[in-house]
Amino acid sequence: MSMAGATTCPAPAVSWMRVRADARRVRGGGPPAAGARRGWLAESPAARGRVRLHGAHKGVTPARGAAPAMAANDDEVKSIHSNESSKTLLKSEALYEYMLNTMVYPREHERLRELRLITEQHSRGFMSSPPDAALLLSMLLKLAGARNTIEVGVFTGCSVLVTALAIPDDGRVVAIDVSREYFDLGLPIIEKAGVAHKVDFREGPALPILDWLLSDEGNAGKFDFAFVDADKENYGGYHEQLLRLVRVGGVLAYDNTLWGGSVALPDGAPLKERDREISACLRAFNAKIAADQRVEAVQLPVADGITLCRRVV
Ligand SMILES: C[S@@+](CC[C@H](N)C(=O)[O-])C[C@H]1O[C@@H](n2cnc3c(N)ncnc32)[C@H](O)[C@@H]1O
Repeated sequence: MSMAGATTCPAPAVSWMRVRADARRVRGGGPPAAGARRGWLAESPAARGRVRLHGAHKGVTPARGAAPAMAANDDEVKSIHSNESSKTLLKSEALYEYMLNTMVYPREHERLRELRLITEQHSRGFMSSPPDAALLLSMLLKLAGARNTIEVGVFTGCSVLVTALAIPDDGRVVAIDVSREYFDLGLPIIEKAGVAHKVDFREGPALPILDWLLSDEGNAGKFDFAFVDADKENYGGYHEQLLRLVRVGGVLAYDNTLWGGSVALPDGAPLKERDREISACLRAFNAKIAADQRVEAVQLPVADGITLCRRVV
């Protein structure tokens, strides 16, 4: 469905969830233990040498307008996200690991940890929000006093579980995903956490489901918080719909808005074709938000880039 104000970007050639067939998992995720490298970066030093944060462009100083680099063969460059990369924009693995071990893992809810470890076993586990972003999401929901929330892009339900744990007992998260199969992997953990009654899962493409919500006038401005973490081509469309569903003063949060830093790379920098397309979508979306006077906005270089919008009119 085409939406007024939707981001214009190249049509997707393949699923944005494409993952290298040979992707290796290196994330561990156990609690910190003396003498052991733990968490998402746990691995042998030899393996660590093969890990490249944000794939193709680590070490490239992004500069829009700089001389274009040679376009590489698509097979020669790594995908921005895979199970072998860490989802952080921090330039130091040691610093990220320090942060995870010091502040994140010790504070991670037991059920969230359980779901994270299950999700990491999935061939597309990299799609899940990293645990530092999960903590941030939890904090934002509580600061916003969120009760009714919407989530676009559920996967195995890590961010849904964060949300369901953060909102009050009579709160609700309308959780939308094209795949029920992914959600079913996480549902037993959400039930074990005792918060499944707050989760209203809707299976299908989000644009029509959000339109369906909008068809009920009672839903206008009913929601306090929305978290968008799905197909980047439709972020602009989701924004238009969510601005009507989320109340004035409510928060709209968009994940992956820096796409591994690729949004700042010069044209022709070596990127997978799919990453190039997503990056273009996100640049258009970022420009749209920057110019949008209906929201107050801030972009955080946390995880893969999180944009927060507070509806002001
Ligand atoms: C990055 S994952 C979501 C991760 C999740 N928020 C988390 O933190 O664990 C993106 C999800 O969006 C879903 N998705 C992709 N396109 C969609 C669409 N048009 N409508 C609804 N869901 C979509 C995919 O099935 C996938 O599960």
